[in-house]
Amino acid sequence: MAKRSSSGDLIKLIGMLIILGVTLIGCCGLLVESIMFSEQKVLEAERKLNQLRKPAVKSIQSEDGDIIDCIDMYKQPAFDHPALKNHSIQMAPSYDPTKEAKSAMTKFERLMKKRNYAQSSRMVTQPWKKNGSCPEGTIPVRRIRKKDLLNASSVEAYGRKKHSFSGLHESQSSTSDNNKTWDLGLQQANHSKAILFAEGYRYEGGKGDIKVWTPNVEFDDDYSTSQVCLVSGPYWDFESVESGWAVNPSVYGDRQTRFMVYWTVDASKKAGCFDLTCPGFVQTSHEIALGAAIYPISVRYGLPYEIIVYIFKDPETNNWWVQYGEKINIGYWPPELFGALSVHAQGVEWGGEVYSARVGTSPHTKTGMGSGQFPDYVSGTSGVIKRMRIQDNSATLKFPEWVETNSDEYNCYDVQYVSDYLEDPEFYYGGPGHNDMCP
Ligand SMILES: *[C@@H]1O[C@H](CO)[C@@H](O)[C@H](O)[C@H]1NC(C)=O
Ligand SMILES: *[C@@H]1O[C@H](CO)[C@@H](O)[C@H](O)[C@H]1NC(C)=O
Ligand SMILES: *[C@@H]1O[C@H](CO)[C@@H](O)[C@H](O)[C@H]1NC(C)=O
Ligand SMILES: *[C@@H]1O[C@H](CO)[C@@H](O)[C@H](O)[C@H]1NC(C)=O
Ligand SMILES: *[C@@H]1O[C@H](CO)[C@@H](O)[C@H](O)[C@H]1NC(C)=O
Repeated sequence: MAKRSSSGDLIKLIGMLIILGVTLIGCCGLLVESIMFSEQKVLEAERKLNQLRKPAVKSIQSEDGDIIDCIDMYKQPAFDHPALKNHSIQMAPSYDPTKEAKSAMTKFERLMKKRNYAQSSRMVTQPWKKNGSCPEGTIPVRRIRKKDLLNASSVEAYGRKKHSFSGLHESQSSTSDNNKTWDLGLQQANHSKAILFAEGYRYEGGKGDIKVWTPNVEFDDDYSTSQVCLVSGPYWDFESVESGWAVNPSVYGDRQTRFMVYWTVDASKKAGCFDLTCPGFVQTSHEIALGAAIYPISVRYGLPYEIIVYIFKDPETNNWWVQYGEKINIGYWPPELFGALSVHAQGVEWGGEVYSARVGTSPHTKTGMGSGQFPDYVSGTSGVIKRMRIQDNSATLKFPEWVETNSDEYNCYDVQYVSDYLEDPEFYYGGPGHNDMCP
């Protein structure tokens, strides 16, 4: 009898110790937060999370650490944007040029395409799908963590690419320089790009098959992206819509390669963001989570994995749709978000971008672009984009009549445009950043 009660006491004691431990951990977590971040920042982060996190119909724990919340499509973050208060959702694009192109193919062409395709390329998927799916009528949203918001340079800037023009350039926008286009080869501070671009027409779509890699990202504040981008406006104040993959620790809290979309209307100064980290993008698909990891990743001399992205303007609504893998229409940016870009784009870009405070300085950042290898058509071990297409006012997808390459720091990240002897030109890009030629 006495024995039993003593073991009962022991259990009680252990229970109390556990509770004490949990309380301590909880309180220390808060304590650490309050030591490391100002009270104002913590409050701001909490406010932003309350705004962005919508009630979930269902939550899915992915094995890579992400939580995917299935959110009622009509309650998604986009509708918090002041310009989208009365927006009615377009459930599917009114016209899909890839479908038209497919149905116009002959049986033989289709067969050839299928064969080539099965041989040469493999599509990626997202790991969270192993652990569940979102019901129709909901959209999968990657849950933003408080610690990622707190780690951002400012809560307000979280989820945005880093803006890179100082006051000098902004003041130019009021001078006669106004009509200089966006690509005049002026490198944005702290950014390094290696791209192929088309300009000179009115573009209503851009498409490409982007090989998927995980480049080294040296600092938590650096990022490396590869994308298709439609752009309008002068280089210090451009508007753009983009889609591709990113390794971006300051937004996603790790160094996995993730599928992303991005938009801005002011060269990333104040408006726009990745994925759904601010109100803007209207998602309709329940299959793809923006900002979620993708896999498999290509490895040197291994199988090539890729994502096919296509951004196009709906002729009826002027919404900029994002299509994934030639079949899933993920959602769109409504024209209300944009100025010039609500009408058409002035240019289309394919390629990579590295952001680092150690771009253009020595020692240069070791953050890689593409695979982190220099362009290599022969071995295929570098970043590459294939089947590049544009859509101008003729509404069919085609390779642009005229393209040009640009590399901000060719000793760090280079470009190689291959069109001779190829039915379909290919664009190789990227590099390791810091190396003997790029000290
Ligand atoms: C939404 O509709 C209301 C009522 O019709 C109108 O007053 C308001 O201006 C509209 N808002 C926007 C952003 O269009
Ligand atoms: C997710 O799915 C994988 C594969 O089915 C399984 O091994 C893992 O335990 C699941 N994880 C969770 C958190 O359910
Ligand atoms: C810019 O171009 C537009 C038309 O292309 C023209 O109307 C406008 O006057 C130009 N602005 C300047 C400052 O040159
Ligand atoms: C967030 O900040 C902490 C403390 O400075 C740091 O240890 C951690 O690596 C940071 N994480 C990211 C993803 O930036
Ligand atoms: C480049 O990055 C450094 C370090 O973060 C920062 O101090 C500087 O203001 C940035 N330059 C521009 C033009 O944004």
